[in-house]
Amino acid sequence: MTALTARTGSPFAKLLSVASFVPSRVVDNAEMCTYIDSSDEWIQQRTGIAERRWVGEGENVETMALDAARTAVERAGIDGSELGAVIVSTVTYYHQTPSLAAKLAFQLGSTGAAFDISAACAGFCYGIGQAESLVRSGAAKYVLVIGVEELSRFTDIHDRGTAFLFADGAGAAVVGPSDVNGIGPVVWGSDGGQASAITQTVEWSEALEGGTTPYIAMDGRAVFKWASGFIADAARHVLDAAGLTPDQLDVFIPHQANNRITDAMLRSLKLPEHIVVARTIRQFGNNSAASVPMAMDQLLSTGEAKKGQTALLIGFGAGLVYAGQVVTLP
Ligand code: UT7
Repeated sequence: MTALTARTGSPFAKLLSVASFVPSRVVDNAEMCTYIDSSDEWIQQRTGIAERRWVGEGENVETMALDAARTAVERAGIDGSELGAVIVSTVTYYHQTPSLAAKLAFQLGSTGAAFDISAACAGFCYGIGQAESLVRSGAAKYVLVIGVEELSRFTDIHDRGTAFLFADGAGAAVVGPSDVNGIGPVVWGSDGGQASAITQTVEWSEALEGGTTPYIAMDGRAVFKWASGFIADAARHVLDAAGLTPDQLDVFIPHQANNRITDAMLRSLKLPEHIVVARTIRQFGNNSAASVPMAMDQLLSTGEAKKGQTALLIGFGAGLVYAGQVVTLP
């Protein structure tokens, strides 16, 4: 066997920036209850959602992603041409191919690697896990990770089980080299045996033939049970993998699926009272791949969380899949 040259990159990686795009259309629970038989009280009690954001005039997956990406690149203090890779996580882009990542890379001035991933609500954490490896392996110096969703387009507004939950938005972060480790080991996995828990009402081929839309179909109770049990345990493994105890954590940013799932995780992790907990679901709804970076950007921009603090991220959703890591906030 001929020994080939191996490449190594930076010893460590960190988040250099985070940014988000919040769509302009506010849909409150009163409007939601014109589409489904529900109430503001039920939605708030069962999920924590008071209102959600949907795309407004001229906004879509591409415009939202580009806006968040441009801000993230600017905040990282680099030029778009320095991006060695662009990773987009989305389940709501309208093109099967080419990828949204390649289009965005071009718009940002990058000729680096570009690809989309499908990991639903775990997508941003999957992307950060990949980005950290790319930077440390030397495959890319700077990696842009984007989570973007236009779930309003693929949610049946008359479905009482999903309509009130899903929303739109984008978040982006730049990962780059560091002298000190700022991204802990990713803990991730899947359970394809529960694929039917979150799926589509029809396959694309059937939808095209029948002239229908493949809406999101969810067994809410099954996902709730899995998230508040198995995923709460996984969050503890994320902390262990980074070599931290709960009292060393400053911020908890779980996927914004349901405040009751977040509460179950807090109980399971036994996090100290002082920890800042992301609850952006209240005003943004569940933005799938965009929810973790949107929440992170919101906490930093309101001053609730601070640069340099230690945050536990965890995403989980359709697949079923999950991923999490501890990061130093940018
Ligand atoms: O981001 C991807 C991952 N997704 C998730 O993590 C979602 C996880 N699941 C959930 O968040 C929750 O299951 C939901 C918020 C979707 C639903 O809450 P739930 O507490 O699991 O409700 P349920 O389906 O168990 O229904 C409880 C009751 C039922 O009435 P009865 O049988 O107790 O009389 C339902 O008929 O609530 C009723 N109900 C509603 N009432 C008002 C169900 N949907 C509604 C509604 N408005 N929209």
